[in-house]
Amino acid sequence: MSENHTFHMTPEEFRRHGRAVVDWIADYYERIESFPVLSQARPGELRAALPAAAPQHGESFDAMLDDVARLILPGITHWQSPNFFAYFPANSSGPAVLGELLAAGLGVQGMLWATSPACTELETHVLDWMVDMLALPPTFKSSGPGGGVIQDSASSAALCALLAARERATSFVSNRRGCSGDLVAYCSNQAHSSIEKAVKIAGIGRDNLRLIEVDERFALRPELLRQTIAQDRKEGRVPFFVAATLGTTSSNGIDPLGEIGAICRAENLWLHVDAAMAGTAALCPEHRAMHEGIEHADSYCFNPHKWMFTNFDCDCFYVADRSTLIDALSVLPEYLKNKSTESGAVFDYRDWQVPLGRRFRALKLWFVIRHYGVDGLRHHVRRHVELARRFARWVEDSPRFEVVAPVPLNLVCFRHVGGDTTTERLLERLNASGRLYLTHTRLNDRYTLRMCIGQTYTEERHVRAAWDLIEETAIALESA
Ligand SMILES: Cc1ncc(COP(=O)(O)O)c(C=O)c1O
Repeated sequence: MSENHTFHMTPEEFRRHGRAVVDWIADYYERIESFPVLSQARPGELRAALPAAAPQHGESFDAMLDDVARLILPGITHWQSPNFFAYFPANSSGPAVLGELLAAGLGVQGMLWATSPACTELETHVLDWMVDMLALPPTFKSSGPGGGVIQDSASSAALCALLAARERATSFVSNRRGCSGDLVAYCSNQAHSSIEKAVKIAGIGRDNLRLIEVDERFALRPELLRQTIAQDRKEGRVPFFVAATLGTTSSNGIDPLGEIGAICRAENLWLHVDAAMAGTAALCPEHRAMHEGIEHADSYCFNPHKWMFTNFDCDCFYVADRSTLIDALSVLPEYLKNKSTESGAVFDYRDWQVPLGRRFRALKLWFVIRHYGVDGLRHHVRRHVELARRFARWVEDSPRFEVVAPVPLNLVCFRHVGGDTTTERLLERLNASGRLYLTHTRLNDRYTLRMCIGQTYTEERHVRAAWDLIEETAIALESA
């Protein structure tokens, strides 16, 4: 019997369709390797297949699900494929997806503690767990002056850090009268573009962001940072913010936090640490050397939505002094006033981020941590790092290729010895094959391929098959 679409989906219908969706996702995971990893869709293809106008009358859920397979799947790049080695991963896992589903089912909007106490308290608690799990400074814990919050992205975390830093540097005058134009921010020329974006949004001005040169390991050179700050001060400007990166996007370069932190302390600058992907590696004690000096950080962020099996979006953002962040971002209109806020005994996370509304993201992170446990998470990080090292050895042993950057974690940067054009043509052919997906960057102005191993379901056989395909394709190119 057809369903009456004038009415809402009943719990019984929801149960039936919900099961079908979960089955659909499980089937998708089972056959994910049969799809071309990079979507082969042409621009406009999906839109041409969709009706020009919205349906006048409600349609059956079965028809919608059929259309997902028929229309949507061809336009999907399969980020959860074990043959996805592009960009940085945005990996996921069963417990994360189910946590996401529950969050949607509960439909909580957690802007205030009072609008769902569990949403706020679970978040605070899980972020405190993460401080211990990553061996971050205890000042980032909610029991001290700092605390953690989940942001949608590392970009938002950088923006919030920058806004708090701006207010601290100007004694909260910028919030009232606007920003003066004298403030100067610093990061390496390998820092993620989100720092530049944050500088633009926060009204600092792109011309007031200094991109410091890096060394041969693609790490910021502290002596150049010190000199540039001195020059800016000499010319009457006001240095206020440094963003250091642990695991740059192009090459996984690791900025020296100890030296950068000492400069920030001496100069009274806000130090923000962006560990978007590499931060997950700190689950393993053997990868914590990059944290040396992290006690100098005023703020820190990493994305479980990159390498920690928690589907997008989920960025953990910490501050060493939460009062600066809250004072920078808090606005309290009458309609949000409530007794819990007035008591001062609760966190209202709306004051820790740009939007007012917020989803119950902690649920999926909690599920992931409980499902794998710290040992399980470490196991998978170690597996990925080991696979990357193995891949790097194969590249080094090949006369056709060279590794062009250190491999501290799970990213291998390499190129064909034939030069930029050959390397670029190779990438095009590889991605057109649909059998894997790689992306590129430029390092020392040379076209470079990036092989990042961090997908949940990637095993040695996938990495081996990728390498075999890369070699075979290179040989075919040479003889073409
Ligand atoms: C080092 C680094 N920082 C920040 C970002 C931005 O991440 P998000 O998409 O969470 O804003 C990325 C994305 O790849 C990154 O690699």
